[in-house]
Amino acid sequence: MNIAESIRSRRSVRSFDGKPLSNEIKEQVLHFANGADNPYGLPIRWRLLDVKAQNLNCPVITGAETFIAGKMQPAPHAEEAFGYAFEQIALYAVDLGLGTTCIAGTMDRPAFERAMELEEGEVMPCVSPLGIPAAKMSLRETMMRKGVKADSRLPFEELFFDGGFDKPLSKDRAGGLAEVLELVRLAPSAVNKQPWRLVVGPDTVYFYEKKSKGFTAANGWDIQKVDMGIALCHFALGLEAKGGKAVFTLEDPGLTHPGDTAFIAGCRIDGVDA
Ligand SMILES: Cc1cc2nc3c(=O)[nH]c(=O)nc-3n(C[C@H](O)[C@H](O)[C@H](O)COP(=O)(O)O)c2cc1C
Repeated sequence: MNIAESIRSRRSVRSFDGKPLSNEIKEQVLHFANGADNPYGLPIRWRLLDVKAQNLNCPVITGAETFIAGKMQPAPHAEEAFGYAFEQIALYAVDLGLGTTCIAGTMDRPAFERAMELEEGEVMPCVSPLGIPAAKMSLRETMMRKGVKADSRLPFEELFFDGGFDKPLSKDRAGGLAEVLELVRLAPSAVNKQPWRLVVGPDTVYFYEKKSKGFTAANGWDIQKVDMGIALCHFALGLEAKGGKAVFTLEDPGLTHPGDTAFIAGCRIDGVDA
């Protein structure tokens, strides 16, 4: 599958066929995960977990015997780095015919953290089931998808801006970048909040996070930054597929932005005309 197809066909899968995955396929995913990079160069250690042997409970998921989870030391940009790496794994899984769901909240977190053998100070941002999607979604899955309107995304013009936040960007104006931005639009996010807002400049695209209430923990850990990492990943992979390259920068362009948004990163676009 090409990357646009993988992104378009990915969805969170919460109902699985109940059959164990072969060791070969599990090893393949783990090998890919351990090689997945992130623009911040932060190390993440991935493990496969066994639901029965490790007594794991994730009530929104049915029929999955295996989970994959990553752990890392907290650091500036750890959330974005995790989201970026996680999404590459989720898209790789799509190509193998497997389903995943990024899960940050709806699981027995202490049991998963025990199974991951977290070391001093380490965090385990999210976990994901890994398996063959069931032929039919469970009733709970159908209800959950309805609850967060999982099949819809905000319109293009609400997410992307032309040089500054005062000017929404239309698909027509986006030119060669429109397809890449569309792949960002389709990204998954916690509670489907889609916090990414992108300002497209002449040679750089600036990523901002529109913060929703209740997503940042008392210690500053912000789950919506995982969403931002996923959006950055879709952008970089989409650009690469069009023969371009995203060059990351953390240099804040100092643009005027709404009070509830914060600068996350810039991507200089090489090779694709905006
Ligand atoms: C960072 C993050 C955390 C998430 N946490 C959960 C979770 O705890 N439980 C859950 O069922 N889904 C979780 N999701 C899945 C989202 O609800 C889902 O991606 C969104 O509704 C869009 O649906 P889609 O992935 O099928 O496109 C999470 C997604 C992300 C990106």
